[in-house]
Amino acid sequence: MRVCVGVRTQQLIHRVSIHPVRPSAAVRWRAAQTRLFCSPPTEEEKPRPSMLRHLTSKIKATGPITVAEYMREVLTNPVTGYYVRNNMLGPEGDFITSPEISQIFGELIGVWIISEWMGAGQPKQLKLVELGPGKGSLASDILRVFSQLRPVLGKASVSLHLVEVSPTLSRLQAQILTGNCSQEADAEDEPVYRRGETAAGLPVSWYRRLADVPTGFSIFYAHEFFDALPIHKFQRTEKGWREVMVDIDPEKPDQLRFVVAPSPTPASSVLIQADERRSHVEVCAEGGVIIHQIAQRIAGDGGAALIADYGHNGTKMDTFRGFKDHQLHDVLSSPGSADLTADVDFNYLRRIAGRDVACVGPISQRTFLKNMGIDSRMQVLLRNCSDASTRKQLISSYNMLTNPTEMGDRFHFFSLLQHSRLARPKTVQGLNMDKKSPAPLPVAGFTELSFS
Ligand SMILES: C[S@@+](CC[C@H](N)C(=O)[O-])C[C@H]1O[C@@H](n2cnc3c(N)ncnc32)[C@H](O)[C@@H]1O
Repeated sequence: MRVCVGVRTQQLIHRVSIHPVRPSAAVRWRAAQTRLFCSPPTEEEKPRPSMLRHLTSKIKATGPITVAEYMREVLTNPVTGYYVRNNMLGPEGDFITSPEISQIFGELIGVWIISEWMGAGQPKQLKLVELGPGKGSLASDILRVFSQLRPVLGKASVSLHLVEVSPTLSRLQAQILTGNCSQEADAEDEPVYRRGETAAGLPVSWYRRLADVPTGFSIFYAHEFFDALPIHKFQRTEKGWREVMVDIDPEKPDQLRFVVAPSPTPASSVLIQADERRSHVEVCAEGGVIIHQIAQRIAGDGGAALIADYGHNGTKMDTFRGFKDHQLHDVLSSPGSADLTADVDFNYLRRIAGRDVACVGPISQRTFLKNMGIDSRMQVLLRNCSDASTRKQLISSYNMLTNPTEMGDRFHFFSLLQHSRLARPKTVQGLNMDKKSPAPLPVAGFTELSFS
Protein backbone atom coordinates (compact mmCIF):
# COMPACT_ATOMS: atom_id res chain seq x y z
CA MET A 1 0.00 0.00 0.00
CA ARG A 2 1.26 3.45 -0.86
CA VAL A 3 1.22 5.73 2.15
CA CYS A 4 1.84 9.43 2.41
CA VAL A 5 4.69 9.61 4.88
CA GLY A 6 8.16 10.98 5.29
CA VAL A 7 7.30 14.47 4.12
CA ARG A 8 10.37 15.86 5.86
CA THR A 9 12.64 13.38 4.11
CA GLN A 10 11.13 14.32 0.75
CA GLN A 11 11.79 17.97 1.48
CA LEU A 12 15.39 17.19 2.37
CA ILE A 13 15.86 15.31 -0.92
CA HIS A 14 14.47 18.25 -2.91
CA ARG A 15 16.83 20.64 -1.14
CA VAL A 16 19.96 18.72 -2.11
CA SER A 17 21.14 20.77 -5.03
CA ILE A 18 22.88 19.80 -8.22
CA HIS A 19 26.56 19.04 -8.07
CA PRO A 20 28.90 18.22 -10.96
CA VAL A 21 28.57 14.53 -11.66
CA ARG A 22 31.48 12.47 -10.43
CA PRO A 23 32.87 10.21 -13.17
CA SER A 24 32.31 6.49 -12.75
CA ALA A 25 33.61 3.47 -14.59
CA ALA A 26 32.18 0.33 -16.09
CA VAL A 27 33.71 -2.38 -13.94
CA ARG A 28 32.65 -5.40 -11.93
CA TRP A 29 31.36 -5.09 -8.40
CA ARG A 30 32.45 -7.74 -5.96
CA ALA A 31 29.13 -9.17 -4.81
CA ALA A 32 28.96 -10.99 -8.15
CA GLN A 33 28.67 -14.52 -7.03
CA THR A 34 29.44 -17.76 -8.65
CA ARG A 35 32.41 -19.93 -8.12
CA LEU A 36 32.32 -21.01 -11.75
CA PHE A 37 34.01 -17.80 -12.80
CA CYS A 38 36.73 -18.16 -10.20
CA SER A 39 40.04 -17.53 -11.88
CA PRO A 40 42.22 -20.59 -11.18
CA PRO A 41 45.75 -19.95 -9.98
CA THR A 42 47.97 -19.36 -12.99
CA GLU A 43 51.70 -19.81 -13.44
CA GLU A 44 52.40 -16.10 -13.74
CA GLU A 45 50.35 -15.34 -10.62
CA LYS A 46 53.22 -14.96 -8.20
CA PRO A 47 52.33 -15.68 -4.58
CA ARG A 48 53.18 -12.87 -2.18
CA PRO A 49 56.15 -14.63 -0.62
CA SER A 50 56.05 -12.66 2.61
CA MET A 51 52.35 -13.38 3.34
CA LEU A 52 52.56 -17.01 2.24
CA ARG A 53 55.78 -17.49 4.22
CA HIS A 54 54.22 -15.86 7.25
CA LEU A 55 51.16 -18.15 7.06
CA THR A 56 53.10 -21.35 6.46
CA SER A 57 55.47 -20.57 9.37
CA LYS A 58 52.48 -19.98 11.59
CA ILE A 59 50.85 -23.26 10.53
CA LYS A 60 54.11 -25.18 10.95
CA ALA A 61 54.49 -23.77 14.47
CA THR A 62 50.95 -24.18 15.80
CA GLY A 63 49.02 -26.38 13.35
CA PRO A 64 46.19 -25.51 10.96
CA ILE A 65 44.61 -22.08 11.51
CA THR A 66 40.91 -21.15 11.48
CA VAL A 67 39.49 -19.49 8.36
CA ALA A 68 38.88 -16.41 10.56
CA GLU A 69 42.56 -16.22 11.45
CA TYR A 70 43.53 -16.76 7.82
CA MET A 71 41.19 -13.97 6.68
CA ARG A 72 42.34 -11.60 9.43
CA GLU A 73 46.01 -12.14 8.58
CA VAL A 74 45.50 -11.86 4.83
CA LEU A 75 43.37 -8.72 5.00
CA THR A 76 44.61 -6.76 7.99
CA ASN A 77 48.05 -8.00 9.03
CA PRO A 78 49.71 -4.67 10.03
CA VAL A 79 52.65 -5.19 7.65
CA THR A 80 51.53 -7.29 4.70
CA GLY A 81 47.70 -7.23 4.90
CA TYR A 82 45.76 -6.67 1.70
CA TYR A 83 43.84 -3.65 3.07
CA VAL A 84 46.89 -2.26 4.84
CA ARG A 85 49.04 -2.15 1.69
CA ASN A 86 46.64 -1.50 -1.16
CA ASN A 87 44.21 0.93 -2.66
CA MET A 88 41.96 -1.74 -4.10
CA LEU A 89 38.89 0.30 -4.99
CA GLY A 90 37.99 1.52 -8.46
CA PRO A 91 38.72 0.68 -12.09
CA GLU A 92 42.45 0.18 -11.49
CA GLY A 93 41.85 -1.83 -8.32
CA ASP A 94 40.16 -5.15 -7.63
CA PHE A 95 36.51 -4.12 -7.27
CA ILE A 96 34.07 -1.22 -7.32
CA THR A 97 31.47 -0.26 -4.70
CA SER A 98 28.21 1.72 -4.83
CA PRO A 99 29.65 4.96 -3.36
CA GLU A 100 32.30 4.86 -6.12
CA ILE A 101 29.69 4.22 -8.81
CA SER A 102 27.52 7.26 -8.17
CA GLN A 103 27.45 10.30 -5.89
CA ILE A 104 23.66 9.85 -5.54
CA PHE A 105 24.26 6.84 -3.32
CA GLY A 106 26.13 8.86 -0.67
CA GLU A 107 23.79 11.82 -1.03
CA LEU A 108 20.77 9.68 -0.18
CA ILE A 109 22.58 8.21 2.81
CA GLY A 110 23.37 11.79 3.90
CA VAL A 111 19.65 12.57 3.72
CA TRP A 112 18.88 9.39 5.71
CA ILE A 113 21.29 10.46 8.46
CA ILE A 114 19.78 13.94 8.76
CA SER A 115 16.29 12.45 8.72
CA GLU A 116 17.19 10.10 11.62
CA TRP A 117 18.85 12.95 13.51
CA MET A 118 15.57 14.89 13.14
CA GLY A 119 13.56 11.80 14.14
CA ALA A 120 15.65 11.63 17.33
CA GLY A 121 14.67 15.18 18.28
CA GLN A 122 17.64 17.03 16.74
CA PRO A 123 20.27 16.50 19.47
CA LYS A 124 22.87 19.28 19.77
CA GLN A 125 25.81 16.95 19.15
CA LEU A 126 25.90 14.61 16.17
CA LYS A 127 28.73 12.14 15.69
CA LEU A 128 28.92 10.51 12.27
CA VAL A 129 30.78 7.24 12.65
CA GLU A 130 31.79 5.40 9.48
CA LEU A 131 33.21 1.88 9.62
CA GLY A 132 35.62 1.02 6.80
CA PRO A 133 35.46 4.24 4.74
CA GLY A 134 37.44 2.94 1.73
CA LYS A 135 38.48 5.91 -0.40
CA GLY A 136 36.35 8.37 1.62
CA SER A 137 33.89 8.94 -1.25
CA LEU A 138 30.81 8.04 0.81
CA ALA A 139 31.78 10.38 3.66
CA SER A 140 32.59 13.12 1.15
CA ASP A 141 29.16 12.82 -0.55
CA ILE A 142 27.43 12.76 2.86
CA LEU A 143 29.30 15.88 4.01
CA ARG A 144 28.33 17.71 0.81
CA VAL A 145 24.68 17.07 1.70
CA PHE A 146 25.40 18.32 5.21
CA SER A 147 26.80 21.58 3.76
CA GLN A 148 23.79 21.99 1.49
CA LEU A 149 21.39 21.33 4.36
CA ARG A 150 23.34 23.36 6.93
CA PRO A 151 20.31 25.54 7.76
CA VAL A 152 18.34 22.38 8.65
CA LEU A 153 21.10 21.29 11.04
CA GLY A 154 20.98 24.68 12.79
CA LYS A 155 23.58 24.95 15.55
CA ALA A 156 24.14 21.20 15.88
CA SER A 157 27.81 20.41 16.32
CA VAL A 158 28.75 17.71 13.83
CA SER A 159 31.95 15.64 13.85
CA LEU A 160 33.15 12.75 11.68
CA HIS A 161 34.79 9.63 13.16
CA LEU A 162 36.34 7.08 10.81
CA VAL A 163 37.19 3.54 11.89
CA GLU A 164 39.85 2.43 9.43
CA VAL A 165 42.52 -0.21 9.85
CA SER A 166 44.47 0.73 6.73
CA PRO A 167 47.06 3.53 6.89
CA THR A 168 47.14 3.61 3.07
CA LEU A 169 43.40 4.17 2.79
CA SER A 170 43.33 6.58 5.74
CA ARG A 171 45.79 8.83 3.87
CA LEU A 172 43.51 8.76 0.81
CA GLN A 173 40.47 9.52 2.97
CA ALA A 174 42.33 12.42 4.61
CA GLN A 175 43.23 13.84 1.21
CA ILE A 176 39.64 13.70 -0.05
CA LEU A 177 38.01 14.94 3.15
CA THR A 178 40.49 17.45 4.52
CA GLY A 179 42.92 18.30 1.70
CA ASN A 180 46.17 18.93 3.52
CA CYS A 181 44.47 19.73 6.82
CA SER A 182 45.19 16.53 8.72
CA GLN A 183 47.99 15.24 10.87
CA GLU A 184 49.11 11.83 12.04
CA ALA A 185 49.47 11.21 15.79
CA ASP A 186 53.03 11.30 17.13
CA ALA A 187 52.86 7.96 18.94
CA GLU A 188 51.86 4.75 17.14
CA ASP A 189 49.56 3.53 19.90
CA GLU A 190 47.36 6.67 20.13
CA PRO A 191 43.65 5.70 19.87
CA VAL A 192 43.15 8.63 17.48
CA TYR A 193 45.88 8.03 14.92
CA ARG A 194 45.04 10.95 12.67
CA ARG A 195 43.09 14.19 13.06
CA GLY A 196 41.97 16.75 10.54
CA GLU A 197 39.37 19.29 9.56
CA THR A 198 37.23 19.63 6.45
CA ALA A 199 37.15 22.86 4.43
CA ALA A 200 33.90 23.69 6.25
CA GLY A 201 35.67 23.33 9.62
CA LEU A 202 34.16 19.98 10.60
CA PRO A 203 36.53 17.88 12.75
CA VAL A 204 37.51 14.43 11.43
CA SER A 205 39.27 11.74 13.51
CA TRP A 206 40.62 8.29 12.59
CA TYR A 207 40.61 5.20 14.83
CA ARG A 208 41.63 1.57 14.37
CA ARG A 209 38.79 0.22 16.52
CA LEU A 210 35.21 1.25 17.23
CA ALA A 211 35.89 0.93 20.97
CA ASP A 212 38.17 3.99 20.71
CA VAL A 213 35.48 6.29 19.23
CA PRO A 214 34.08 8.62 21.92
CA THR A 215 30.52 7.92 23.05
CA GLY A 216 27.52 10.25 22.60
CA PHE A 217 24.60 10.49 20.17
CA SER A 218 25.96 8.88 16.99
CA ILE A 219 24.78 7.75 13.62
CA PHE A 220 26.88 4.75 12.57
CA TYR A 221 27.06 3.70 8.95
CA ALA A 222 28.97 0.95 7.18
CA HIS A 223 29.02 0.07 3.51
CA GLU A 224 30.73 -3.17 2.46
CA PHE A 225 32.47 -3.35 5.84
CA PHE A 226 30.91 -6.37 7.57
CA ASP A 227 31.56 -8.60 4.55
CA ALA A 228 35.30 -7.91 4.92
CA LEU A 229 35.46 -9.12 8.53
CA PRO A 230 36.83 -12.61 9.30
CA ILE A 231 34.40 -15.53 9.28
CA HIS A 232 34.59 -18.95 10.89
CA LYS A 233 33.45 -21.82 8.66
CA PHE A 234 31.81 -24.96 10.00
CA GLN A 235 30.89 -28.25 8.38
CA ARG A 236 28.23 -30.69 9.64
CA THR A 237 29.83 -34.15 9.86
CA GLU A 238 28.73 -37.56 11.14
CA LYS A 239 30.52 -36.73 14.39
CA GLY A 240 28.83 -33.35 14.75
CA TRP A 241 29.86 -29.81 13.79
CA ARG A 242 33.52 -29.39 12.90
CA GLU A 243 35.45 -26.23 12.06
CA VAL A 244 37.02 -25.80 8.62
CA MET A 245 40.72 -24.93 8.96
CA VAL A 246 43.53 -23.82 6.64
CA ASP A 247 46.55 -26.12 6.38
CA ILE A 248 49.63 -26.54 4.17
CA ASP A 249 49.06 -28.92 1.26
CA PRO A 250 51.40 -31.86 2.06
CA GLU A 251 51.97 -32.49 -1.64
CA LYS A 252 52.68 -28.86 -2.56
CA PRO A 253 54.36 -27.13 0.40
CA ASP A 254 53.93 -23.65 -1.11
CA GLN A 255 50.17 -24.13 -1.38
CA LEU A 256 47.40 -24.05 1.18
CA ARG A 257 44.30 -26.25 1.44
CA PHE A 258 41.14 -26.54 3.55
CA VAL A 259 40.88 -29.33 6.12
CA VAL A 260 38.17 -30.22 8.63
CA ALA A 261 39.23 -30.22 12.30
CA PRO A 262 39.08 -33.77 13.72
CA SER A 263 37.55 -32.62 17.01
CA PRO A 264 35.49 -29.62 18.21
CA THR A 265 37.29 -26.26 18.39
CA PRO A 266 36.38 -23.43 20.81
CA ALA A 267 34.53 -21.71 17.93
CA SER A 268 32.58 -24.79 16.82
CA SER A 269 31.52 -25.36 20.43
CA VAL A 270 30.03 -21.88 20.93
CA LEU A 271 29.09 -20.38 17.56
CA ILE A 272 26.64 -22.95 16.16
CA GLN A 273 22.98 -22.58 17.13
CA ALA A 274 21.32 -25.70 18.56
CA ASP A 275 18.53 -25.55 15.93
CA GLU A 276 20.89 -24.99 12.93
CA ARG A 277 19.59 -26.89 9.87
CA ARG A 278 22.22 -26.10 7.24
CA SER A 279 25.11 -28.45 6.49
CA HIS A 280 27.69 -25.67 6.20
CA VAL A 281 27.68 -22.41 8.16
CA GLU A 282 29.75 -19.21 8.18
CA VAL A 283 29.78 -17.10 11.34
CA CYS A 284 31.36 -13.65 11.57
CA ALA A 285 32.02 -13.43 15.30
CA GLU A 286 34.03 -10.20 14.88
CA GLY A 287 31.03 -8.60 13.14
CA GLY A 288 28.93 -9.80 16.10
CA VAL A 289 31.22 -8.03 18.57
CA ILE A 290 30.99 -4.78 16.59
CA ILE A 291 27.20 -4.99 16.25
CA HIS A 292 26.93 -5.61 19.99
CA GLN A 293 29.01 -2.49 20.70
CA ILE A 294 26.92 -0.40 18.29
CA ALA A 295 23.65 -1.69 19.79
CA GLN A 296 24.79 -0.88 23.33
CA ARG A 297 25.86 2.61 22.31
CA ILE A 298 22.56 3.30 20.54
CA ALA A 299 20.57 1.98 23.50
CA GLY A 300 22.59 4.07 25.96
CA ASP A 301 23.42 7.30 24.12
CA GLY A 302 20.85 7.45 21.32
CA GLY A 303 21.43 7.31 17.60
CA ALA A 304 21.03 4.82 14.81
CA ALA A 305 23.03 2.56 12.51
CA LEU A 306 22.69 1.95 8.79
CA ILE A 307 24.45 -1.11 7.42
CA ALA A 308 24.56 -1.76 3.70
CA ASP A 309 26.07 -4.94 2.37
CA TYR A 310 25.41 -8.10 0.43
CA GLY A 311 24.00 -10.85 2.54
CA HIS A 312 21.21 -13.18 3.54
CA ASN A 313 18.92 -13.98 6.43
CA GLY A 314 20.72 -17.03 7.80
CA THR A 315 20.02 -19.17 4.74
CA LYS A 316 23.22 -19.28 2.66
CA MET A 317 26.09 -21.68 3.22
CA ASP A 318 29.40 -21.31 1.36
CA THR A 319 29.86 -17.68 0.30
CA PHE A 320 33.58 -17.16 1.04
CA ARG A 321 35.30 -15.83 -2.09
CA GLY A 322 38.22 -13.78 -3.35
CA PHE A 323 38.32 -10.84 -5.72
CA LYS A 324 41.18 -9.66 -7.87
CA ASP A 325 41.21 -7.43 -10.96
CA HIS A 326 37.39 -7.47 -10.99
CA GLN A 327 37.37 -11.28 -11.24
CA LEU A 328 36.52 -13.96 -8.71
CA HIS A 329 39.71 -15.44 -7.29
CA ASP A 330 40.61 -18.64 -5.42
CA VAL A 331 40.64 -17.68 -1.71
CA LEU A 332 43.75 -19.73 -0.87
CA SER A 333 45.79 -18.74 -3.89
CA SER A 334 48.40 -15.94 -3.62
CA PRO A 335 47.22 -14.81 -0.16
CA GLY A 336 47.48 -11.05 0.27
CA SER A 337 47.15 -10.30 -3.44
CA ALA A 338 43.32 -10.44 -3.54
CA ASP A 339 40.37 -9.24 -1.51
CA LEU A 340 38.51 -11.82 0.58
CA THR A 341 34.83 -11.50 1.39
CA ALA A 342 31.78 -13.42 2.62
CA ASP A 343 28.06 -12.58 2.57
CA VAL A 344 26.76 -10.94 5.74
CA ASP A 345 24.32 -13.02 7.82
CA PHE A 346 21.77 -10.35 8.84
CA ASN A 347 19.91 -12.88 10.97
CA TYR A 348 23.05 -13.33 13.07
CA LEU A 349 23.54 -9.56 13.36
CA ARG A 350 19.90 -9.14 14.49
CA ARG A 351 20.29 -11.86 17.12
CA ILE A 352 23.51 -10.34 18.48
CA ALA A 353 22.06 -6.79 18.47
CA GLY A 354 19.59 -8.17 21.03
CA ARG A 355 16.53 -6.68 22.58
CA ASP A 356 18.01 -3.34 23.66
CA VAL A 357 17.53 -1.93 20.15
CA ALA A 358 15.01 -2.27 17.33
CA CYS A 359 16.21 -3.71 14.02
CA VAL A 360 14.62 -2.88 10.66
CA GLY A 361 15.40 -4.62 7.38
CA PRO A 362 17.20 -6.07 5.64
CA ILE A 363 15.55 -4.67 2.52
CA SER A 364 17.01 -4.66 -0.96
CA GLN A 365 19.18 -1.76 -2.12
CA ARG A 366 16.73 -1.14 -4.94
CA THR A 367 13.81 -0.73 -2.51
CA PHE A 368 15.84 1.40 -0.10
CA LEU A 369 17.12 3.77 -2.79
CA LYS A 370 13.69 4.05 -4.42
CA ASN A 371 12.09 4.76 -1.03
CA MET A 372 14.75 7.43 -0.50
CA GLY A 373 13.76 9.14 -3.76
CA ILE A 374 16.56 8.09 -6.13
CA ASP A 375 14.18 8.45 -9.09
CA SER A 376 13.35 12.07 -8.44
CA ARG A 377 17.01 12.85 -7.69
CA MET A 378 17.95 11.29 -11.04
CA GLN A 379 15.35 13.39 -12.83
CA VAL A 380 16.84 16.58 -11.34
CA LEU A 381 20.36 15.58 -12.34
CA LEU A 382 19.30 14.60 -15.87
CA ARG A 383 17.27 17.77 -16.33
CA ASN A 384 20.32 19.82 -15.50
CA CYS A 385 22.77 17.85 -17.60
CA SER A 386 23.09 18.56 -21.31
CA ASP A 387 26.25 16.58 -22.01
CA ALA A 388 25.27 13.32 -23.73
CA SER A 389 28.09 11.19 -22.32
CA THR A 390 27.46 12.38 -18.75
CA ARG A 391 23.76 11.61 -19.14
CA LYS A 392 24.65 8.15 -20.40
CA GLN A 393 26.94 7.65 -17.43
CA LEU A 394 24.23 8.81 -15.00
CA ILE A 395 21.72 6.35 -16.44
CA SER A 396 24.23 3.51 -16.45
CA SER A 397 25.20 4.07 -12.80
CA TYR A 398 21.52 4.35 -11.80
CA ASN A 399 20.95 1.02 -13.52
CA MET A 400 23.92 -0.57 -11.79
CA LEU A 401 22.73 0.56 -8.34
CA THR A 402 19.05 -0.34 -8.72
CA ASN A 403 18.60 -3.02 -11.36
CA PRO A 404 17.68 -6.32 -9.65
CA THR A 405 20.11 -8.17 -11.92
CA GLU A 406 22.94 -5.81 -10.97
CA MET A 407 23.35 -4.50 -7.39
CA GLY A 408 19.64 -3.77 -6.78
CA ASP A 409 18.70 -7.11 -5.25
CA ARG A 410 22.07 -8.42 -4.10
CA PHE A 411 22.78 -5.58 -1.66
CA HIS A 412 20.65 -4.96 1.41
CA PHE A 413 20.07 -2.23 3.96
CA PHE A 414 19.65 -2.99 7.64
CA SER A 415 19.20 -0.56 10.51
CA LEU A 416 19.49 -0.46 14.29
CA LEU A 417 17.39 2.13 16.13
CA GLN A 418 16.44 3.07 19.66
CA HIS A 419 13.09 1.50 20.59
CA SER A 420 11.74 4.97 21.39
CA ARG A 421 12.27 5.92 17.73
CA LEU A 422 9.52 3.50 16.70
CA ALA A 423 7.16 4.20 19.61
CA ARG A 424 4.06 6.35 19.22
CA PRO A 425 4.65 9.83 20.65
CA LYS A 426 2.92 10.15 24.04
CA THR A 427 -0.27 12.25 24.27
CA VAL A 428 -1.06 14.27 27.39
CA GLN A 429 -3.09 12.10 29.78
CA GLY A 430 -6.62 13.25 30.44
CA LEU A 431 -6.89 15.35 27.30
CA ASN A 432 -8.41 14.30 23.96
CA MET A 433 -9.21 10.88 25.37
CA ASP A 434 -10.92 9.83 22.17
CA LYS A 435 -7.94 10.73 19.96
CA LYS A 436 -5.30 8.13 19.13
CA SER A 437 -1.70 9.22 19.72
CA PRO A 438 0.04 10.15 16.45
CA ALA A 439 1.92 7.46 14.51
CA PRO A 440 5.70 7.37 14.99
CA LEU A 441 7.74 9.07 12.31
CA PRO A 442 8.49 6.55 9.57
CA VAL A 443 12.09 5.45 9.13
CA ALA A 444 13.22 6.87 5.80
CA GLY A 445 14.27 4.31 3.22
CA PHE A 446 12.48 1.47 4.98
CA THR A 447 9.04 2.93 4.21
CA GLU A 448 7.79 3.94 0.79
CA LEU A 449 7.61 7.71 0.34
CA SER A 450 4.71 9.28 -1.53
CA PHE A 451 5.69 12.16 -3.76
CA SER A 452 2.05 13.16 -4.37
C1 LIG B 1 35.45 -3.42 0.96
S1 LIG B 1 36.14 -1.98 1.56
C2 LIG B 1 34.71 -0.91 1.50
C3 LIG B 1 35.09 0.54 1.44
C4 LIG B 1 33.93 1.54 1.40
N1 LIG B 1 33.06 1.42 2.53
C5 LIG B 1 33.15 1.42 0.10
O1 LIG B 1 32.06 0.86 0.13
O2 LIG B 1 33.66 1.88 -0.93
C6 LIG B 1 36.36 -2.34 3.28
C7 LIG B 1 36.85 -1.20 4.13
O3 LIG B 1 36.90 -1.61 5.50
C8 LIG B 1 38.24 -1.43 6.00
N2 LIG B 1 38.44 -2.51 6.96
C9 LIG B 1 38.50 -3.84 6.72
N3 LIG B 1 38.63 -4.53 7.86
C10 LIG B 1 38.64 -3.63 8.85
C11 LIG B 1 38.73 -3.73 10.27
N4 LIG B 1 38.86 -4.89 10.88
N5 LIG B 1 38.69 -2.59 11.00
C12 LIG B 1 38.54 -1.39 10.38
N6 LIG B 1 38.46 -1.23 9.03
C13 LIG B 1 38.52 -2.33 8.29
C14 LIG B 1 39.11 -1.50 4.78
O4 LIG B 1 40.37 -0.96 4.97
C15 LIG B 1 38.23 -0.72 3.79
O5 LIG B 1 38.31 0.67 4.05
